[in-house]
Amino acid sequence: MTDPKPLRSAATYGKRDRDGFIHRSWMKAQGFPDHVFDGKPIIGICQTFSEFNPCHSHLRDIAEGVKRGVWEAGGVPLEFPAMSLGETQIRPTAMLFRNLMSMDVEESIRGYAMDGVVLLGGCDKNSPAMLMGAASVGLPAMLVSSGPMLNGKFRGTDIGSGTDVWRFSEEVRAGTMSNADFMAAEAGMSRSPGTCMTMGTASTLACIFEAMGLSLPFNGTIPGVDARRKAMAHRTGNRIVELVRSGATMADVLTREAFENGVKMCAAIGGSTNAVLHLLALAGRAGVKFDLADWQHLGASVPLLVDLMPSGRFLMEDFHYAGGVPAVVAELGEALHLDHVGVSGLSLRDIAGTARNDNPEVIRPLDKPLMAEGGLVILKGNLAPRGAVIKPGAASPELLQHRGRAVVFHSIEDFHARVDDPDLDIDASCVMVLQGCGPRGYPGMPEVGNMPLPRKLLEAGVRDMVRVSDARMSGTAFGTVVLHCAPEAHIGGPLALVRDGDMIALDTANASLTLEISDEEMEARAAAWVPTPPAYDRGWYKLYIDHVTQADQGADLDFLRGSSGSVVTRESH
Ligand code: FES
Repeated sequence: MTDPKPLRSAATYGKRDRDGFIHRSWMKAQGFPDHVFDGKPIIGICQTFSEFNPCHSHLRDIAEGVKRGVWEAGGVPLEFPAMSLGETQIRPTAMLFRNLMSMDVEESIRGYAMDGVVLLGGCDKNSPAMLMGAASVGLPAMLVSSGPMLNGKFRGTDIGSGTDVWRFSEEVRAGTMSNADFMAAEAGMSRSPGTCMTMGTASTLACIFEAMGLSLPFNGTIPGVDARRKAMAHRTGNRIVELVRSGATMADVLTREAFENGVKMCAAIGGSTNAVLHLLALAGRAGVKFDLADWQHLGASVPLLVDLMPSGRFLMEDFHYAGGVPAVVAELGEALHLDHVGVSGLSLRDIAGTARNDNPEVIRPLDKPLMAEGGLVILKGNLAPRGAVIKPGAASPELLQHRGRAVVFHSIEDFHARVDDPDLDIDASCVMVLQGCGPRGYPGMPEVGNMPLPRKLLEAGVRDMVRVSDARMSGTAFGTVVLHCAPEAHIGGPLALVRDGDMIALDTANASLTLEISDEEMEARAAAWVPTPPAYDRGWYKLYIDHVTQADQGADLDFLRGSSGSVVTRESH
């Protein structure tokens, strides 16, 4: 069938001249007959399969599902590769490369003659990177996430990705678990392709993006290897062709209301602190006015409803079988913008209308929440004038209001060298401070903010302490951990000025973080502060260090904010 609406791809494949010959002829090397290029919508499938990224190792099969749906709807699917960021595999940290991946995706979408795009992937940085890139072009786009792994199993109990690594590791250091037992859990934790099955960053973002309308319903929770994920991919293929034919753009979905729904979903599911950075960066690309303070005033009063690790007990399979994101939407009701319409063509009101909560233990009813206020808290104060983040749901309630003596580590190497020193002057009431792990300082803002506790305190039974840094934390991690202090230490933020013995006050109820020194003392220390020269002077690292923004702006590159649209005016030859 010939599409009645002029398509972007027609400027490449529709021309009956030398240029059209070149574009079509070389594509025919793949065995495409003439009628493939008779005006059908071309759908790009952004493929992030990689054997270095086990969370995406099944995506070739998922792509086949999308292709079936695109062909069936009268479109032409063409797969293209993008950088793939395996969170647990790539060093020094995947976050260093999120913006690089977004540039790869943006220029691939713009440069190739596609009319719409399906984005495949879900390991932490990949989905925000792909959406950021796609938003800077603006064509219709849909996300098909990798889906979570099957629940972890170890000696008769469920174990959760990341969450139980951190827990077991501390028990080994405390002497309450043998290293042999720890190693025995390894294969049982990761039993299938897919993303971490706790409410880590991947699951958080997949659920948030579903609530924002960037995927079909249940994209956030169907297990990666469940046949229903491939069926959903097939329906995504159907739907992206319809979106292209309707003239939709990504901006139709990426509205201010969508971001507000995302913040509230994050609170209700006990989502990762990393979502703060990714949504800020995505809003910057989409040109939506949305800032760090929105996380505080929109999310703070939303109850925590989903009982998943690391804030609770269950895992993503349980969440899906209980009813997934649609059931949470139904519980939250009018707290959300229910009239927001996503790429499915359905409003959240439509989705809530057919939702079921089949396990109120996993998805709590609104009147029986796990926690009355589940949102992330954005702390302000002289230690983080541009903000810091804490996740109360994953913290120890008794430490959320705390005053303690600072024990300062100047880098992650300094931390590793000294944390288990028996002579380290530290007790359970102290506040552990880590400097030099922000966007520019590390560089790349690694997930080290949940510093392991000193062995001597673990042996004494201590399991949580207040920790403060400019780093991030894995969404699977837990503890009373203050993250993303901005400005970061490396550029002379107040975190750089903390000294051993200073008193730090964390007041989560009042959203404040205070270094208890006088303004005069702060100014004197700032005047004496000596910057460290950048450790890298070439390649991507240099570009990143020179242009990355602070955490309160999403740690995107300054020149990537906004959109360049989809138009390319010059031919390739
Ligand atoms: Fe890929 Fe956790 S390591 S989602």
